[in-house]
Amino acid sequence: MNQSIVEKINQLRTQIEEHNYQYYVLDNPSVPDAEYDRLMRELQALENSNPDLVDANSPTQKVSGKMDGAFQPVNHLTPMLSLDNVFSEEDLESFIQRINRRLHSEQEIEFTCEPKLDGLAVSIVYQDGVLVSAATRGDGQTGEDVTQNVRTIKSVPLKLRGNYPSLLDVRGEIFMPKDSFDKLNETAIAKGGKTFVNPRNAAAGSLRQLDPSVTAERSLAVYFYAIGSAQDDEGKSELKQSHFDRLQQLKDWGLPVCPEIEVCMGKKGCLDFYSRILRRRDSLAYEIDGVVLKVNLIELQDELGFVAKAPRWAIAHKFPAQEEMTKLQAVDFQVGRTGAITPVARLDPVFVGGVTVSNATLHNMDEIDRLGVMVGDTVIIRRAGDVIPQIVKVVNERRPDNARMVTIPSHCPVCGSPVEKEEDQAIYRCTGGLFCDAQKRESIKHFASRKAMDIDGLGDKLVDLLCEQGLLNSVADIFILNKETIASLERMADKSAENLISAINKAKTTTFAKFIYSLGIREVGEVTANNLANHFLTIEKLLMANHDELVQIKDIGEVVAQHIVAFLGNEHNLDVIDKLLDRGVHWPEVKIMSLEEQPLIEQTWVLTGTLNRMKRNDAKQILLSLGAKVSGSVSKKTSIVVAGDSAGSKLAKANELGVSVIDEDTFIERLSSLGVKVTD
Ligand code: IVH
Repeated sequence: MNQSIVEKINQLRTQIEEHNYQYYVLDNPSVPDAEYDRLMRELQALENSNPDLVDANSPTQKVSGKMDGAFQPVNHLTPMLSLDNVFSEEDLESFIQRINRRLHSEQEIEFTCEPKLDGLAVSIVYQDGVLVSAATRGDGQTGEDVTQNVRTIKSVPLKLRGNYPSLLDVRGEIFMPKDSFDKLNETAIAKGGKTFVNPRNAAAGSLRQLDPSVTAERSLAVYFYAIGSAQDDEGKSELKQSHFDRLQQLKDWGLPVCPEIEVCMGKKGCLDFYSRILRRRDSLAYEIDGVVLKVNLIELQDELGFVAKAPRWAIAHKFPAQEEMTKLQAVDFQVGRTGAITPVARLDPVFVGGVTVSNATLHNMDEIDRLGVMVGDTVIIRRAGDVIPQIVKVVNERRPDNARMVTIPSHCPVCGSPVEKEEDQAIYRCTGGLFCDAQKRESIKHFASRKAMDIDGLGDKLVDLLCEQGLLNSVADIFILNKETIASLERMADKSAENLISAINKAKTTTFAKFIYSLGIREVGEVTANNLANHFLTIEKLLMANHDELVQIKDIGEVVAQHIVAFLGNEHNLDVIDKLLDRGVHWPEVKIMSLEEQPLIEQTWVLTGTLNRMKRNDAKQILLSLGAKVSGSVSKKTSIVVAGDSAGSKLAKANELGVSVIDEDTFIERLSSLGVKVTD
């Protein structure tokens, strides 16, 4: 055997193992992915051409391995325990009091506080640093052998590093990160397959695959949180005396540990940790359903011992549930701004994800088919974070005899116009256009919304009320509302009417891009509106646009071009645009210059304080179009600071650094000298 090949292979394996450790355990990748992939490919190629040198524990072996039939039972070396739960501060207090009583001590106790990962428990045994077996929890005594599948999980090391014990049974949670879960379900939906209810079920389903190559594709991950047992023949690796330090030992051996874990003091420390993690729950990359609090000192853990299957020294403090069961009372059909008809589930109210939910979206008829849901069914509702509540599953065993199929109405429930289905699409639409009250209302709500004309105070409820009273028949009517009519509405005081009128007046000054977006042309979102504005520059030119010119514009395809042509070819829409302009809607004319012409190129501007004659964002857009960079902070590199009313720390910093500062009037004069007119 060629000695240099053996050496090269060993060197590559060591390098890759080191990168795995940096990436999965230290969460600090040492090389770019491309370099890692290159090392892997090089190793793979060498192993392919030297099959004698293949080693079952080489990093290349993560995706191979074969299962032979069903999962075999495995007896755990020590039982896999579960945890008792608490749901309130009072229960947590009793838990801590029980501990104090048992320890005959009043002293504050130190806890290791960990997120409660929502996956499934696994026990992995390393013998002489090599992964020899992995098993699910099962009944706590006997689990199922999932070694081949666990070997495919990228963050599970096949070999340990450092001074590990000769036998180590380490416990952790296998989970599916949220983004992998979303991708898995999106692919399943696209293929018309079955989706998973939540990442935990997806993780369980993926781990229990008879074909390990399927598990390998599913992007599972692991964090370890306990040592089941450790034997150390050579006495190299004595276990530390606190749980937190033991977790650090796990990391030293190459085993990933959740980075959010902290040591906290007493009840207050634990409650603070709970609140902090709960606040960050949505932004974590993985699902958690609470926190786990563990007495930190091992000596105290040993003194406290166990009851039945759970330790006395640990507890799970659970978050409010994000999934609940309830009954589907009815399905209503809502008509959106573009006529799309959306089925909405009316539910028996249920407390889930911290709020009472009585409606859930059903998206479209395909979703209803996919779920197989019928009126009268018991369903599982999920409300995670700020996401709209969704029905994720039907509890088929609870279907009543009188359950009814959900059918799409043939006519719009609001205006009675026929409902049509678009070819190759799951969407049904009301054909009533702006004659349909629902479409009219929704288009007005869109027009007034923050990203559109941004009319402060003209929210959805008020739009509904104004439409009901016949005061708004199109978006243009917003600009002929007067204070007296508004003040005469129910629950509208003089002051709020006055505020609304001033917000409407303020909103008259907008940008061309926002104006286009506000019109609510189908499939014209903010980005497309911006592209249209930059291309046409004036409303007159936009109104003359034809299909061929439109498809030349960035990101505009055939379909969007058709929607734009249809919108601008409609008499009613043209009339509304005319009225809007007549009634005072306008925007500063922005002359977009070619690169050579951009007079502020290479300059960095900072806008601070309140501007009175224009909106901050409009000022920013104008500066950008003139080639300047617009930054949020002042530094030595800042060219000019525009300081509006009550400018604070940024103005002070500019003065300190000697950066030139101008006020709003001077700014507007400068713009005017550059050919940009700002009308008040
Ligand atoms: S410790 C001796 N720590 O919760 C204590 N468990 O309800 C054994 N879990 O079966 C468990 N995150 O699957 C522990 N940081 C964490 C955990 C955690 C999730 C799961 C684990 C366990 C279940 C008990």
